[in-house]
Amino acid sequence: MGKVRQIDHPLIQHKLTIIRDVRTGAKEFRELVEEIATLMAYEVTRDFPLEEVEVETPLCKAKARVIAGKKVAVVPILRAGLVMADGVLKLIPAAKMGHIGLYRDPETLNPVEYYCKLPNDIGEREMILVDPMLATGGSASAGIGFLKQRGAQNIKLMCLIAAPEGIARIQQDHPDVEIFVADIDEKLNSHGYIVPGLGDAGDRLFGTK
Ligand code: PRP
Ligand code: URA
Repeated sequence: MGKVRQIDHPLIQHKLTIIRDVRTGAKEFRELVEEIATLMAYEVTRDFPLEEVEVETPLCKAKARVIAGKKVAVVPILRAGLVMADGVLKLIPAAKMGHIGLYRDPETLNPVEYYCKLPNDIGEREMILVDPMLATGGSASAGIGFLKQRGAQNIKLMCLIAAPEGIARIQQDHPDVEIFVADIDEKLNSHGYIVPGLGDAGDRLFGTK
């Protein structure tokens, strides 16, 4: 079963509470989502392997460490994942970026694909798929499926808030994928919204409602 890591750093929890608040407007909401994603990226990259190199300081030559192995690609699920991707890129500016366009059909709650453009070497990259909300898990499961179809082998999923149903879905469909979340909420309501959640992440980020 895929591992779930809840990142309960005080800064992340504090900022998450502000974005849950219905009174928080789009500008502050966007800024905080980006900041939380940057902080989460610190943990998501924690197990990246290091290798030893030689560096010449102003005083002498020294052994030091740099990140080894695979390079990174960040893939937001459009559109709400876009702002999280910006937050991850603050920490890993050389990462390549892909985009997966999915929206959830409001009746069936099934994901509908409308766009997919990925770097062509994703098989050699550490993939970080980002989307603020893991509700039924349908969108993230489909997104991971697209990455795998195109050759991705190492995928981490990073979400702000997950419902237990969404976590169970990813663990069932993609047991190899590690899930990073800032919080796990109680349940989904009859419209597939996470409760207590933060509402519709895309609408709150972009002020579309
Ligand atoms: C939201 C969210 C996820 C999806 C989660 O996107 O950003 O992609 O719903 O729900 P699920 O786990 O039940 O699939 P939405 O479909 O509202 O699209 P948007 O980002 O374009 O607003
Ligand atoms: N998508 C959202 O934006 N919010 C939810 O609570 C569920 C799906």
